[in-house]
Amino acid sequence: MTIMVIACYRPKAGQEAALLALMPAHLPTLRAEGLVGDEPSLAGRASDGAIVEVFCWKSQAAIDAAHKNPVVTAMWEKYGAVCDYVSIGSVAGASDMFLHLAPLSLAPAIAARAPIGVDVEQGKSYFWCACGQSKAQPFCDGSHKGSAFTPVKWTAPESKKVFFCACKQTKGAPLCDGSHKGLGTGD
Ligand code: FES
Repeated sequence: MTIMVIACYRPKAGQEAALLALMPAHLPTLRAEGLVGDEPSLAGRASDGAIVEVFCWKSQAAIDAAHKNPVVTAMWEKYGAVCDYVSIGSVAGASDMFLHLAPLSLAPAIAARAPIGVDVEQGKSYFWCACGQSKAQPFCDGSHKGSAFTPVKWTAPESKKVFFCACKQTKGAPLCDGSHKGLGTGD
């Protein structure tokens, strides 16, 4: 039976950005280990800075397996370095009739469904937009601030035209790996 859980993370001092950087990989990692299904997760920030994530385990057996899974426990160790796991009752607003959270996107926006070709210069560094919100695609314009994403620095090994990922699904960031072909048209 699927089990929906509410997990609450309180970032350690100065570690909110590090925590947010870990979160987009949380559900995909659990999914790759066969522990969660296709349900998306939701996340938000409480007024006291606690981060709340709602997601679904496949079953109690999946939860039990996660605690013995080296990939998952390694991921959780990274969480433990940047946040404390806290109960929902300790989150500001938890005793209100409705707990209000500022939404946090854990998946990048699809900026375009085809890569963007750029003539790059050898030795020059480029900052690729990972969040998909930049108005200066494929590069960062600072729109990621406060999100779970940070730009990816890439230095051109030679001067030539390269194709930067714009769908933000590539496994070879920042360059296109063809992942956009699996996205359909979006129409
Ligand atoms: S604007 Fe998208 S990573 Fe900076």
